[in-house]
Amino acid sequence: MTKKLYIKTYGCQMNVYDTERMIDVMAPEGYTQTDAPDDADLIVLNTCHIREKAVEKVYSDIGRVRKIKIKQSKNDKEVILAIGGCVAQAEGGEIMRRAPVVDMVFGPQTYHNLPKMVNKSISLKAIGEKSRILDTSLAVDEKFNQLSKSDVKRKATAFLTIQEGCDKFCTFCVVPYTRGSEFSRSIESVMKDAHKLADAGVVEVTLLGQNVNAFHGQSSTGQEWGLPELMAEIAKIEGIERIRYTTSHPHDMTDQLIKAHGQIKECMPYLHLPVQAGSDKVLKAMNRTHDTASYKKIIADLRKIRPDLALSGDFIVGFPGETDQDFEETMNLVREVRYAQAYSFKYSPRPGTPAATMENQVDEAIKSQRLTRLQELLKQQQIEFNKSVIGKTLKILIENKGKTEDTAFGRSPYMQAVQVTLQGVSADDLQGTIVDVLIKDAGPFNIQGVLVAAA
Ligand code: 5AD
Ligand code: SF4
Repeated sequence: MTKKLYIKTYGCQMNVYDTERMIDVMAPEGYTQTDAPDDADLIVLNTCHIREKAVEKVYSDIGRVRKIKIKQSKNDKEVILAIGGCVAQAEGGEIMRRAPVVDMVFGPQTYHNLPKMVNKSISLKAIGEKSRILDTSLAVDEKFNQLSKSDVKRKATAFLTIQEGCDKFCTFCVVPYTRGSEFSRSIESVMKDAHKLADAGVVEVTLLGQNVNAFHGQSSTGQEWGLPELMAEIAKIEGIERIRYTTSHPHDMTDQLIKAHGQIKECMPYLHLPVQAGSDKVLKAMNRTHDTASYKKIIADLRKIRPDLALSGDFIVGFPGETDQDFEETMNLVREVRYAQAYSFKYSPRPGTPAATMENQVDEAIKSQRLTRLQELLKQQQIEFNKSVIGKTLKILIENKGKTEDTAFGRSPYMQAVQVTLQGVSADDLQGTIVDVLIKDAGPFNIQGVLVAAA
């Protein structure tokens, strides 16, 4: 009998990738994915711990699932609730105490054990035993050895995790505690996965890692490789036409990696490179290991090689000790650098991180005012960047059908979401292909274009 699996994903692309792998590992156990939690036999919340709001959301969702479990138990159906991801890793014991309805808790490095945990829970329940399972070890290499990716569906674009964890210890961040220390997968296993994706029809791979540009490994000929060498090798695979990578740290933006943006034609002109703040004093307190000058030098070097590079970033406002003057320096940096898009957040104290106990915590109201001003500026820049492609013909990778019969959805080399008017061609025929599109109009989040020809 097939069973239904519902997974809710919170947070970053790493979690999106992990969710896909959980679906893969549960498939041989007879589980198919559902979008309706009410139908599910197994409900997984794949959680995020990066900011407080994300954590609160998990607890309120647990309350919602509790109601589903009660309703289903009246129909003699035992629904299993599993909490995975970074909240599970950081406060697994706390979840178990606070939410008795939770059957199992597992971390980002143990989800390959999900079938075992679920089967154990089912057999214990069958003999009337109450079972609660907690598995939050951080041994990451075992996980990748056990994950099979053989049954990926044909999609135009896919994530591929090549690195996990972080040793940078920015003082605001939980990642080094929830995902563990920096770990690069072996080049051999990454290449195997990249070939499988290409065989399944994937055209664009996004290489993932919390510190993806810290990736390093030994090639089959014994050479030490970093991200640029890995990208060059993946670019040789037939069918792979686009490569992206995220998230990067300025500290690991080597000259070689910068050069790769000009040398590897598959490497897309888009880079997510968080700076976090524009004040050197704040950057130091954040333990970022870069300053504004070194960051600006990287951007200038990249733009020498790719003048059209679309730059993205992350910003935190209201870090402890951030003064009005410090914040103005962030605004000035944004004005000077110019972003195609960016993410910005109010500083959220995370338990166990050094910044949480720093003095001079900034008032919430001031954080909100600063965030509004910064987001207004970033939005203006995003509109400006999007409008700059009007009248140009861009290569668009078609991912899906569009909102209407006559349109398709795709992405430009700059990661822009583009609605393409097809003028009689079928969206199904174009899915997974790169086509020429004349850009007609652009707003902050969506761009409209017309199909010119299959490229
Ligand atoms: N508060 C606010 N934002 C944070 N980020 C990480 N930790 C925090 C925090 N404690 C942001 C950073 C990071 C992005 C993934 O989330 O900008 O780059
Ligand atoms: Fe967190 Fe800093 Fe590591 Fe990024 S580099 S994951 S912000 S500790």
